Amino acid sequence: MAFPSMIRRFGVGFALAGICALAFAADMDMHSSMMHGSASAPPVPAGGLRVAVAFPPQLKREVLATMRMHLQGIANVQQAMAEGKYDEAAQVATMALGMSSMHGEQAQQEARYMPPGMRALGAQLHMQAGEFVLAAQNATATGDVRKPQQLLGRMLQTCVACHATYRLQ
Ligand code: HEC
Repeated sequence: MAFPSMIRRFGVGFALAGICALAFAADMDMHSSMMHGSASAPPVPAGGLRVAVAFPPQLKREVLATMRMHLQGIANVQQAMAEGKYDEAAQVATMALGMSSMHGEQAQQEARYMPPGMRALGAQLHMQAGEFVLAAQNATATGDVRKPQQLLGRMLQTCVACHATYRLQ
C-alpha cells in the first residue's frame, strides 16, 4: 500500500508507528549483524523502547541546543504563517530548520555517531524544510497557503518519529 493512502486509511499515528518500526528494524539489523549474528541479542535495548544513541558529551550539548533552535524555529514559522507572512516563514525555516541550520562540522560529527535510521530521519527533516521553504515562498505569489501548512505538519511528524525511536545516552 502506498504510504499516502496508508495515512488516509489508518491515520497519521499508524503511519508514524510504521516509520518508527522501519527505522528501528533497520538499526536493530545493523546491531545484530555487528554482534556476529548472536541470536540471543535482545531485540529491545535496555531502558525502554527507544534506541539509545551514544554521543560524546560536547556533541550531545550541541545537538540538544540545535534541537531547541528547531523548536523555536517551528514556533516562529507558525507565528509568521498565522500573520500571513509567508516570506518570513520561509526565511525562518531556512535559518532554523534547513541544511544550513547546522554548521558543517557538527553535521559531520552527527553522521559519524548516528545509526542509519536516525541519519535518514535527520536528512528527511532537512529535505522537508527545503520543500516547505519553496511552498511558503510560492504562497506569497499564488495565495496557496494549504501547501506550506501541509508540509509543516509533515515536517513535525518527522520530529515526532525521531523522538519516538531514539534517545541520546
Ligand atoms: C534525527 C532525529 C531527530 C529529529 C529529526 C529531531 N529530533 Fe529533536 N531530538 C532528538 C533526540 C535523539 C533528542 C534527545 C531526546 C532524548 O535523549 O530523550 C532530541 C531532543 C529534542 C529536544 C529537547 C532539547 C533539550 O534541550 O533537551 C527538543 C526541544 C527537540 N528535540 C525538538 C525537535 C524539533 C522541533 C524537531 C523537528 C523540527 C526535532 N527535534 C527533530 C532527535 C531528533
